[in-house]
Amino acid sequence: MLLVVAASTFQSCSSTKDSKLLYFAHSLPMSHPVHKGIVAMQEALNEKSDGKLQIKIFPDGQLGSEREALELLQIGSIAMTKVSASALSNFAPEYQITVIPYLFRDSDHLFRNLEGEVGKQLLEGGSEYLLRGICFYDAGARSFYTKDRPVHSPDDLDGLKVRVQNDQMSVSMANSLGASATPMSFGELYTALQQNVVDGAENNIPSFVSSNHFEVCKYYIFDEHTMVPDVVIIGTKFWDLLSDEEKGWLEAAAKESVAKQKVYWAETVEENMKMLKEAGVEFIYPDKAPFVEKSKPVMERLMQNPKLKPIIDKINSN
Ligand code: GCU
Repeated sequence: MLLVVAASTFQSCSSTKDSKLLYFAHSLPMSHPVHKGIVAMQEALNEKSDGKLQIKIFPDGQLGSEREALELLQIGSIAMTKVSASALSNFAPEYQITVIPYLFRDSDHLFRNLEGEVGKQLLEGGSEYLLRGICFYDAGARSFYTKDRPVHSPDDLDGLKVRVQNDQMSVSMANSLGASATPMSFGELYTALQQNVVDGAENNIPSFVSSNHFEVCKYYIFDEHTMVPDVVIIGTKFWDLLSDEEKGWLEAAAKESVAKQKVYWAETVEENMKMLKEAGVEFIYPDKAPFVEKSKPVMERLMQNPKLKPIIDKINSN
């Protein structure tokens, strides 16, 4: 890893007279629809800039966890990453609002906000923490999945060790619903499930499938507690070095990739659902009302924060 980072530092800082290369690290496998969105951005950027501004992708956590990738951006070792907004909330607290259970009513409500005022505020506000947001990708809704326990109501989560992402909001979310939240990075989870370190986890369908967690977990419970988006980030150390023209190319390429990524997402979910049924994974569609009710204190607590309350109010009234 050190070698790669050292090489990337050299490469990403060395721009020849006519081309610049941006190193882009993320933690998902190449079969994932979010990776495909990043590839679409890479291609569009190449085309728009006529090869003058390019992206090199390091998928699959090759350069470390999401937290580590964000740190590499902050110190300027690599230029770009794609992380879950959950991971980002450790660095830019405004993103905590994206992890509030049942805040977004559906995908339309989510994107109306992410692609409107609220999204702009979150993406641009990241600069304060050296992490400028470029765009949001669809990451669907997150639901619980378990190895051996069917879950029909929050009561069934009692005493269950559930892996969540490494941030306070994800921990509060799962604990509020009655589970025992166990934070760890995505890359460690398959082994943790296999070795019974945890009894289950929570994620969207494409991540459940592309990580092969479905091989170990036989129940997928559509409680859809959160809709945490994925976010493409550029370190301000690199962003500030780009010319206005280069920034324009990158933003236009990102915009194009956002539209394509939504299509990849929908197609993948459909294929994955079929495959999961054939593989014998049991889908459970619980009554969501008790989940909504039990998780309410999470939003109430964030509403006490004068920085976050106006953002939450805006989303609720939009
Ligand atoms: C999703 C998300 C990833 C994140 C993962 C996780 O798959 O796209 O960015 O790492 O969830 O649960 O850690």
